[in-house]
Amino acid sequence: MCGIIGFTGSKNAAEVLVDGLAELEYRGYDSAGIACFTAPSAITTIKTVGKVSQLRASIPFGFTASCGIGHTRWATHGGVTQANAHPHSCGHVTLIHNGIIENYLSLRDELTATGRIPVSQTDSEIAAMLIDSLYTGDAYQAIRDAAARLEGAYAFCILFADQPDTIYCIRKGSPLVACHSEIGSVIASDMVALLRYSKDYFVLSEDQIACLKPEGITVTTLAGEAVCPEYQTVTWDVSSAQKNGFKHYMEKEIHEQPDALSRTIMPRLSKHTDNDCCYTLPDLSADGIPDSLFENLHRIIITACGTAMHAGMMGKILFERLLRIPVTVDIASEFRYQNPILDENTLVITVSQSGETADTLAALRLARAQGARTLSIVNVKGSSIARESDHVLYTHAGPEIAVASTKAYTAQLSAFYLIAFRAAYALKKLSAADCAHLTSQLLTVVSDIHTVLADKAVTEEIGRHLIKADDLFFIGRSMDYALSCEGSIKLKEISYIHSEAYAAGELKHGTLSLITSEIPVIALATQQDVLAKMISNVKEVRARGAFVILITTEAAVVEEGLYDYRINIPVCEDLFAPFSAAVYLQLIAYHTSYLRGLDVDQPRHLAKSVTVE
Ligand code: M6R
Repeated sequence: MCGIIGFTGSKNAAEVLVDGLAELEYRGYDSAGIACFTAPSAITTIKTVGKVSQLRASIPFGFTASCGIGHTRWATHGGVTQANAHPHSCGHVTLIHNGIIENYLSLRDELTATGRIPVSQTDSEIAAMLIDSLYTGDAYQAIRDAAARLEGAYAFCILFADQPDTIYCIRKGSPLVACHSEIGSVIASDMVALLRYSKDYFVLSEDQIACLKPEGITVTTLAGEAVCPEYQTVTWDVSSAQKNGFKHYMEKEIHEQPDALSRTIMPRLSKHTDNDCCYTLPDLSADGIPDSLFENLHRIIITACGTAMHAGMMGKILFERLLRIPVTVDIASEFRYQNPILDENTLVITVSQSGETADTLAALRLARAQGARTLSIVNVKGSSIARESDHVLYTHAGPEIAVASTKAYTAQLSAFYLIAFRAAYALKKLSAADCAHLTSQLLTVVSDIHTVLADKAVTEEIGRHLIKADDLFFIGRSMDYALSCEGSIKLKEISYIHSEAYAAGELKHGTLSLITSEIPVIALATQQDVLAKMISNVKEVRARGAFVILITTEAAVVEEGLYDYRINIPVCEDLFAPFSAAVYLQLIAYHTSYLRGLDVDQPRHLAKSVTVE
């Protein structure tokens, strides 16, 4: 959480920083600020409560600088106030911080005893006080000594008042990526802020110090040894991170799903000859995922947060159906503190769009430490989870900017399908012919999603109905229950309407008492094997007066009186229904939020990348 950026070079730093913060705003948006060298040893700080646009408006006309740091905040320690906004200064030190300093209370007591008085309630200001207390003219030494004292997660960009045009950076847990281009040196928490300057960047490793000067970036280990950073190249361009004519990033990202899925699926298919027949099968060898990863597995654990965890719920159904190996899905923030039983016959799959989610990263580290095999499904190349996993399957969804995850989710689903099909084939649970058939069906979801996107009107009409609701239920069975969980989080995070996902058969064990004529129910009934049971559950809510929105298949025979709206997903085999149905749910959430006049892309209290516990 929090977006941070530092720049030193030939352009106006204020402009570079504010433009970069606008790209990073999805990481946090309650307040923003910059600090720049405006004279050799004079640092000017400007900060505002509110969004980056408010910060931009508060920068005086003609303000110029060649070096500075900028921050957009997602509050953790202390409320949303100007004093708590970053940058924070103490003595020689001005810094921005992304992360949480866990021992800040004891450090604060120690530092205030030396006469330093904090002006904010933040842990970040305490870090500035600590570094200043350790600074005697050697920035590296002060940062090293501070790192030895700080507990928790951090990415810092630090200015020292007596070192003009220079930025020092260090990270632990929280991400930092950097590039040098013709305009100078830039560092940020995410590649999107660097894209307009360079496609080549490197990830600063933990416990390394980067020193940015206009002419270049020097990286050293904490021990002071020079490091040659490993540059990577992004494959997407700046327009991928812009709205391109859509009203919102979320709307654009919903529409990018056919491409995101093609990019994720197609490179993983290859021709295979079996008994003189040629089949197109998933092949994960180019990703460095050997078939042996799936051999002798006693158990699979999928762990992730939020939407990524909901993709994992679908993965469990697929794996258990096709592989007949027991699978559990755990919320990463629970898994990491449950003392899980892991061994070399356990495969732990972590799923993350950002690849930086703190709880998921911790779950991965725990799994590795206990000897489990690890595989991650990650969207952001070079992110911490990707780098620390034994194996990675990248989703190629491109940058996802809206806080509500859409294209990353369906891309994660497609990754699970590819892994399940490949593993089932490798373990001889699926013949080449059957695997090829399923693979061809997976490809049809791309055109199915195009069909759904062309059918937007109904979701807008449903949105118009839902804007009046205070509470709402999503119900479904098996794959449709996993999808209900995703539909529910999507709607509540951006429309602020309370909703719950319920396994349809469980309603009668208590929750049915909440169903009245005031409560819309979105019923998912796309799975033939449980259709009759599901329709019985729809009857139960209908009998209590619920307004029913039914998402089902053309083939399903359902009495008209049982629903107010019926959406038929494009014809497909049941196993592939979640893709089209998910897009309908995303569109319903999108229209409901927009029609309520809310901030679709940046819902209150949330942030895109959750790098704190
Ligand atoms: O970057 P990650 O996929 O690890 O993020 C996990 C969740 O924070 C994320 O999916 C969140 O639930 C979304 N805002 C939901 O739309």
